[in-house]
Amino acid sequence: MEMFRHPDTVRDLVASWRFRGHRIGFVPTMGYWHAGHLRLVEAARARCTKVVASIFVNPTQFGPNEDLAAYPRNLDRDLALAQRHGVDLVFCPGPAEMYEPEHDTWVEVPRLSQRLCGASRPGHFRGVATVVTKLFWIIQPHLAFFGEKDWQQLVIIRTMARQLSCPVEIVGCPIVREADGLAMSSRNAYLTAEERAQAPALFAMLQHLHRLVEAGQTDVASLTEAGREYLATHLPLGRLDYLQFVHPDTLEPRLVVEPPTLAMAALFLGKARLIDNHRLV
Ligand code: PAF
Repeated sequence: MEMFRHPDTVRDLVASWRFRGHRIGFVPTMGYWHAGHLRLVEAARARCTKVVASIFVNPTQFGPNEDLAAYPRNLDRDLALAQRHGVDLVFCPGPAEMYEPEHDTWVEVPRLSQRLCGASRPGHFRGVATVVTKLFWIIQPHLAFFGEKDWQQLVIIRTMARQLSCPVEIVGCPIVREADGLAMSSRNAYLTAEERAQAPALFAMLQHLHRLVEAGQTDVASLTEAGREYLATHLPLGRLDYLQFVHPDTLEPRLVVEPPTLAMAALFLGKARLIDNHRLV
């Protein structure tokens, strides 16, 4: 396995692979790998002949009061996992390799970026869309793999890639959960034991809503109330940021649950902000 810090070295090696007819799969990450990242690598290995992963805690997607400095990092462990799981190349730039000091060119998908997570994280998706565009230019993959836990991010990247005519197929991969249902996330490391014990109630709430929908309840206002009540009982340490019912492709809010509808939720819990989503119909 190769490990490079500099974009030019990555570009040269990947170009030689492409020249030899390889199909390049790309797994962008911010490191601190868990089973969700490994599932993305597996998906890439299943469809590609070379797998490139990036590990870069991208400063431009963090707000001024967010956790950039505290974001969990363990590069040695990530590299060992990448090697063991058959990654061919890991790109690990520092901020200086990715951004000029006067960086002032941005990729924005404003309509999809301002709602849901974007409402409480202004500028976040501009940073994501910009770094992913840069990574696509550096790596030039045929396919790129993203987790469906970050559903809004996936929709924004699909839209960005389509509208900018990026020759990359965007592949969404199912959420990977702990045994108790909590969606895996590097930020789960922030949870105290007490918070961790309550955290699975976020997904349990989405499953509860699913059962209500199956029983015939489709009014979004009543379902939102039911979700809030569930969290007040089972996750009292948390503070709900949003619970919304949307069309999965457009993220347009629904007033009644009709096919297709995705429930999306974000919740502050101690130092963490958990997100999750679940297809209702
Ligand atoms: O999902 C993430 O880990 C990040 O947002 C990404 C896509 C690697 C961009 O920094």
